[in-house]
Amino acid sequence: MIRHDVVVVGAGCAGMRAAIEAKRRGVDVAVVSKLHPTRSHSGAAEGGINAALGNATEDSPESHTFDTVKGSDYLGDQDAIEIMCHEAPGDIYELEHMGAIFSRSDDGRLAQRPFGAAGAPRTVYSADITGNVLIHVLFEQLVKHEVKVYEEFHCTQIVVDDGRCAGVLAWDLVRGGIHAIEASQVILATGGVGRMYYGTTNAYACTGDGMSLAWRAGVPLKDMEFMQFHPTTLKSNGVLITEGCRGEGGYLRNSLGERFMAIDAPNAMELASRDVVSRAEWKEIADGRGVDGCVLLDLTHLGPKKIKTRLPGSRELALDYAGVDPIHEPIPVRPGAHYHMGGVDVDIWGETIIPGLWAAGEAACVSVHGANRLGGNSLMETITFGRRAGQAAGDRVRSNGDSGARIEASVVADERRRIAALLGAEGGERPAVLREEMAKTMYDKAGVFRTESALTEARAAVHALRDRARNLQLEDRGSLFNSDLVQALELEAMLECADCLVTGALARQESRGAHSRLDYTERDDDRWMKHTLCWHDGGEVRLDYKPVTVTKYQPLARSY
Ligand code: FUM
Repeated sequence: MIRHDVVVVGAGCAGMRAAIEAKRRGVDVAVVSKLHPTRSHSGAAEGGINAALGNATEDSPESHTFDTVKGSDYLGDQDAIEIMCHEAPGDIYELEHMGAIFSRSDDGRLAQRPFGAAGAPRTVYSADITGNVLIHVLFEQLVKHEVKVYEEFHCTQIVVDDGRCAGVLAWDLVRGGIHAIEASQVILATGGVGRMYYGTTNAYACTGDGMSLAWRAGVPLKDMEFMQFHPTTLKSNGVLITEGCRGEGGYLRNSLGERFMAIDAPNAMELASRDVVSRAEWKEIADGRGVDGCVLLDLTHLGPKKIKTRLPGSRELALDYAGVDPIHEPIPVRPGAHYHMGGVDVDIWGETIIPGLWAAGEAACVSVHGANRLGGNSLMETITFGRRAGQAAGDRVRSNGDSGARIEASVVADERRRIAALLGAEGGERPAVLREEMAKTMYDKAGVFRTESALTEARAAVHALRDRARNLQLEDRGSLFNSDLVQALELEAMLECADCLVTGALARQESRGAHSRLDYTERDDDRWMKHTLCWHDGGEVRLDYKPVTVTKYQPLARSY
């Protein structure tokens, strides 16, 4: 049996930041990740990370707080938002001291670019590869702090012993076999679940593993109906073209060449919040003013120098995947599933209702994003709340020592039998077939705009898929590098998350942030200014609600 004081599941920005902070507390820390850390999806973040440094124009953490509360459509918890916005500047300087190479302005200070719905240029960046830079810096720190990493270990279960988290079970992808990894404190940082949608910016690995593990262990998932659609993704494969393109001055045009954002966001135009921009694009396309199912992101007026220095990655992506050089031609883009505002319900230190179980980053819902996240706030959340979860979990070990919770041999034996049954099953369907049906269903019926009838169909389809997923057949029955097995486990997780999403969305009879109902077009604060909780009830989703924390800002009408 393997044992550590703190085990972090997931090795993106939140997971690595948590592990580093826990290790700084002098306790024994390990990371368990289904990918090598630098392959984690945080590395795909492009445009930047928000902190009110005030380097470009005057700014303040209070202004960052207000923008985030408004952007969340008043569903974000204001105590958590205040924490993030006030602690963000210190966290950025710490990243810089760790070695993050951020872009600089002419006066030598960290450069900051405008991002959507922000009252000041607040987004610190490394050209348009910010996540890639951060993930490498954090990995260096992980190595420096001698944190043990179980790489290519896929977690299959969170074990709870007498009401306390006892550790995790994980499948060793490389060599095969289930391992029990005991820990007094477990931090989930497994990222989002964008792969439940067709045409997403998310990596193949973003399959909601941690959310589903926590749900099955008895922790509610919060606000799962809120999936963000990023306005600028490539039609061919959903690859992200950063909001930084619009931050640097790019325009969105329809087939008539019009900057259509003038209708829905006459002040902020292309830099309105993402929910507003994605809806405007969807309407242009639906009303016949799109171009082959897309709208156009026009950077041609920025000139080659700016595009080559500030947006080199976006140019490369457009060239490689759309065959378009943005120096000369606009890039066809459309809304694509990008970020899940929902996740594991945690408090402001990242702790769940199960003692010893924590979550941070996109897997968690603190909630700092509410119904709609602002661009640049997710990387900041991973760093600030990853650090806080690592700090609190490490301190818990220092103050309480070994939690005493243990993984029984019988639990490990049961899991080995479950996996063996999956490997040996005959006559079922291939996971990839169900995965594709799920992704198409979610995109068509639970997308940018929603209705009761479409969501009802989506829910029935997801339930049918969950039934069919009980009878899978794997082509690879071996134990070494069996990606077929991993796909099956991921499918189960995504379908559970999809069930939570459509069930929550069907119940929420209002439009708020990214949840836009054509049959309930207004925000309804009297009935719906509350968080949705999805509980695991014998495998089914049971809904419950809890209040939003309001400190300073009462809800106002939202316009940009
Ligand atoms: O557009 C982007 O660069 C994405 C940033 C984010 O989602 O925060």
